[in-house]
Amino acid sequence: MMKDMSAMTDPRQPPAPTRAPVFELIEVEKVFQIRRPGAGLRRDTVGLRALDGVRLRVEQGASLALVGESGSGKSTLLRVLLGLDAPTGGRALYHGRPIREVRAEGPRFARDVAMVYQDARGSLDPRMTIGALIAEPLRHFGIVPAGQVAGRVAELLARVGLPADAAQRYPAGLSGGQVRRVAIARALASEPSVLVADEAVSGLDVSTQAQLLTLLRGLQRDMGLTLVFITHDLGVASYLCEEIAIMYLGRIVETGPTDAVLAAPAHPYAAALRAAAPRFFEPLPEPLPGEIPSPLDLPPGCRFSGRCPMVQPDCQTRDPQLGRHGEGRAVACLHPLGAA
Ligand SMILES: Nc1ncnc2c1ncn2[C@@H]1O[C@H](COP(=O)(O)OP(=O)(O)OP(=O)(O)O)[C@@H](O)[C@H]1O
Ligand code: SF4
Ligand SMILES: [Mg+2]
Repeated sequence: MMKDMSAMTDPRQPPAPTRAPVFELIEVEKVFQIRRPGAGLRRDTVGLRALDGVRLRVEQGASLALVGESGSGKSTLLRVLLGLDAPTGGRALYHGRPIREVRAEGPRFARDVAMVYQDARGSLDPRMTIGALIAEPLRHFGIVPAGQVAGRVAELLARVGLPADAAQRYPAGLSGGQVRRVAIARALASEPSVLVADEAVSGLDVSTQAQLLTLLRGLQRDMGLTLVFITHDLGVASYLCEEIAIMYLGRIVETGPTDAVLAAPAHPYAAALRAAAPRFFEPLPEPLPGEIPSPLDLPPGCRFSGRCPMVQPDCQTRDPQLGRHGEGRAVACLHPLGAA
C-alpha cells in the first residue's frame, strides 16, 4: 500500500521490505508557463505552479483515490504518472526508473499502464464497431494471435458485463454506462497491471455509477490491478480505494488509508471536505468559505491559511511539508487535528 515518504527515511526505523513501488513521486513540481494576466500583446509569461513538492508512493495492487477541488492538480498529477507531462522539478519514477524514460523506450509502458478517460465517448472512434474498438489494442500490442482476437473480444465484453452482440454495434447505439464499460474493456485488453482513471464514473446516474464501481472494484481485486482513480466524490473514493490522497493547490495535504482519513481527518482541509461531503455518490459542492487563492499568487506560509478555521500565527510564515502522522498516514499541517 501507499506510505508516506518520511516514514521510509527515518534512520531509527528498521529497513522496509524492498518491494519497489509501481510509482514514486519525489518532490515533483510542474510549472506551466502561461501568459501573464494583463500582458496584452506582450509575450510576458509567468509560471503557474500546478504541482509543488508532491511526494507519493503507490505500491503494486494498491487502490488510490486522488481527491481535491477543481484546479488542485489531480489531472496534472495523472499526466505525470502517465509520462504525458514531464515534471519541471523532482523525480517521477515507475518501478524505480524515470517514467518519461521508460515510456520513450517502447510500447511496454503503454501496455502496462492503461487509462480510462472521463470523456469515454469522445475517446472512441464513432465509425468503428465495439468489436473493432476492443480488437484494436489486442492487435496493436500483439496480445493474442489473429485467430483468437474475436474470442478475446467476447471474453472482454463478458468481463465488463456487456452482451456478446454489443460487438456489432457502434458507440452511438450505446448508453453512457455501456460506453464506459467499453472504455474499461479497451483498457483491460492490453492486460495492464495498472489502471488509471480520471473521473471515470462522474456524470452518470447513481445506479449506473454503482454498477461501474462494483465492476471496477471486482476487477481490481480479482486481477490484482493497481488502481489510481481521480474523483470529486468522497463516497466513491471510500467505496473503491483503500488509500486516499487529498490535494489542495498543487500539494498533497493528507494521505493514508481511506477509512482512517475520512473517519478522523488530520488536515483541516480534509476535515472541511469530510464535513461538507454530502451523501454517497453526490459530487462535492463548493464546500468551503473563502476563495481558493490563485496558483499565481499563493499566500506566504501555509497555502490553506486564508480559509483554515484552525489557523495560528505561525501558519502565515511557515509552509508545512507532508510529514508522517501515525500508521501509514501523512499530513502537511503545522497543527494537525487530533494531535496531542
Ligand atoms: N496545460 C496547461 N497549461 C497551463 N495551465 C495548466 C495546464 N494544465 C493545467 N493547468 C493549470 O494547473 C492547475 C491544475 O490543473 P488540473 O487540471 O491538474 O486540476 P484538476 O485538479 O484536475 O481540476 P479539475 O477537478 O477541474 O479537473 C490549474 O490551475 C490549471 O489551470
Ligand atoms: S498549517 Fe495552519 S493554516 Fe495550514 S492547515 Fe494547518 S492549521 Fe490550518
Ligand atoms: Mg482534472
